[in-house]
Amino acid sequence: MRDKILELLKKDCFISGEQLAKNLSVSRTAVWKQIKNLKKLGYEIKSVKNKGYKLISRPDIPIPEEITLGLETKIIGKKFFYYESLDSTNTLAKQKIKKKVPEGTLIIADVQTSGRGRKNRNWHSPEGGLWFSVVLYPHIPPQKAMLITMTCSISAAQAIKEITGLKPVIKWPNDLLINDKKVCGILTELDAEIDRINYTIVGIGINVNNSLDDCLKKKATSLIKETGSKISSVKLLRSFLKYMDKNYCKLISDDYGYIRDLWFSYSNIIGKEILVRDEKDVTAGVVLDVDNDGCLILENNDGVKRILSGDIEYM
Ligand code: BTN
Repeated sequence: MRDKILELLKKDCFISGEQLAKNLSVSRTAVWKQIKNLKKLGYEIKSVKNKGYKLISRPDIPIPEEITLGLETKIIGKKFFYYESLDSTNTLAKQKIKKKVPEGTLIIADVQTSGRGRKNRNWHSPEGGLWFSVVLYPHIPPQKAMLITMTCSISAAQAIKEITGLKPVIKWPNDLLINDKKVCGILTELDAEIDRINYTIVGIGINVNNSLDDCLKKKATSLIKETGSKISSVKLLRSFLKYMDKNYCKLISDDYGYIRDLWFSYSNIIGKEILVRDEKDVTAGVVLDVDNDGCLILENNDGVKRILSGDIEYM
């Protein structure tokens, strides 16, 4: 009913309680209760005796009402869970998968108390950022799993470009940088067998309007810092969902070339001299390519190597 009231409430004119009640086939008391709830959520609604209600402003909080209204995605964000605070959206996503939530389910929190980054690092997740996870059941070979993360990083880059005008650079495999500082990170968690992926959880963290921990300031940035103005989290998330839906549909229809080409349009890695660190080794070399599985092709004195994962540093 809240969605319907929001559809009926207009910014420029009043609608009476009686009219709302009639359109929704409920009592005027029920309407009044819903208006009260909307105000609590942050909607500014003017009520004037004998005129009714007028919507003054909407909150910039990624609540389902704001995100799903008019969202035209096929898969991503059709089911939506919003929380003010959670330990980690990825952790909750795992529990939701046990309850068989549909593909594309989105879990979002204003604050994460135990946000997780890659390699068991903590992910600072205070109010003002976008912290969310998407549940996917992709029918692609497990060796192509890196392309899921790439699909996600491209979509985040496209959304940031659309909403802020800034074009992020993707740092292999999945960090988004603006002016050489990290603005977005992606944690992909996967459950797979030798020949199939059972599920994937992609957790995305974007520094939007949030503060940055002092120890992160040298390496990280936020969209508010880079643009000098507050960015709408609602617009950014809606844009991400739109691009992610389109790109993910390409991925699952085996259009790997589309994903790879788009990824390259946000990356400047080819020809760069880099160091790649994984759990065991550090390898130096020049990047020749990123192949159709998303692996780095690196050349050094020992020959040409294919790198599946790791953290890279530019030399
Ligand atoms: C990285 O190390 O770069 C990945 C960071 C991923 C952070 C996001 S925030 C939403 C989701 N929930 C988590 O606990 N982590 C991911």
